Amino acid sequence: MAMPEAVRWGPGRRSVRIIDQRALPGALAELDLRTVDEACAAIRTLAVRGAPAIGIAAAMAFALAMGEHAPAPAETRAARARAIAGALRDTRPTAVNLGWALDRMLAVAADPRLAGDALRDALAREATAILDEDRAMCRRIGEHALTLFPVDARVATHCNAGALATGGIGTALAAVYLAAERGDRVRVFVDETRPLLQGSRLTAWELQQAGVDAVVIADSAAASVMRRGDVDLCIVGADRIAANGDVANKVGTYALAVAARHHGIPFYVAAPSSSFDPATPTGAGIVIEQRAADEIRRGFGSLTAPPAIPVYNPAFDVTPADLITAIVSDRGVHRPPFEFTAS
Ligand code: MRU
Repeated sequence: MAMPEAVRWGPGRRSVRIIDQRALPGALAELDLRTVDEACAAIRTLAVRGAPAIGIAAAMAFALAMGEHAPAPAETRAARARAIAGALRDTRPTAVNLGWALDRMLAVAADPRLAGDALRDALAREATAILDEDRAMCRRIGEHALTLFPVDARVATHCNAGALATGGIGTALAAVYLAAERGDRVRVFVDETRPLLQGSRLTAWELQQAGVDAVVIADSAAASVMRRGDVDLCIVGADRIAANGDVANKVGTYALAVAARHHGIPFYVAAPSSSFDPATPTGAGIVIEQRAADEIRRGFGSLTAPPAIPVYNPAFDVTPADLITAIVSDRGVHRPPFEFTAS
């Protein structure tokens, strides 16, 4: 199954090549990011998005920016590394993968044995490793999650936790792709995912490209689709998983979990181990990104609310652990009570 590659190296490793997700599903366009400013803008505007994908893109952008300068005294180099990582880290606060990837890059940049070409190569190797490891984690998540799927599963999902959000076949969608690969007639109900429509623009597009049966529904239709008996399970991704299993994910995930509980439908979260944040005890400690009012007032350019009306626009919400049937990671299927510690 050919999957879109959300983020990879450009030719000669001189750029970060991304699929510009702002253009989907109208056009499949690629964008080469050559500077930290370009990478920050791409992450902020969701040209590249999804927790694992922004971590990978930031790592690559860090490698490019640190590698392009002449050898400098250790202090200057450390300050420069901190400034680049800081700018990339500040783009979006909720996905823990972003900081996790940048911390890995900072550790390489701080190695006093490396300089010049050796430093440049080591940084590129680390960023490539982050991409390759994510690809492998996606597949393992899919294999573990598939054990939870009935044959010909009818699945509900929210936002996009597929290939477009990762370095591989996705997290929540990984098991969907593996089920289709083994010949199942899997069907996915795709929440359109207000307000930026990652579900209808991105998930629906990539499932259709892969030949998977996908049906887009308004977010507000999910509960009634469940009530009709059309959903066997819900599976979503995560931007950050607290030590107690509370999960931050795209706003609307919590409502889907509440509806699933009401209808007795299992609610699964799929995420790589890079999305675990054992340092944050509960979801109350997760910083939720607030986004621009005009994403709601002027949905994709046309007036969808009075121009000056106050808006509350959190990008994510927290689903409490007690609504989650299991969390599936590359390490296996985790059942409650959850307790994620540093490993
Ligand atoms: O704002 P986005 O589109 O970056 O939000 C993405 C999500 O909420 C995804 O579900 C999450 O990052 C998991 S991606 C494997």
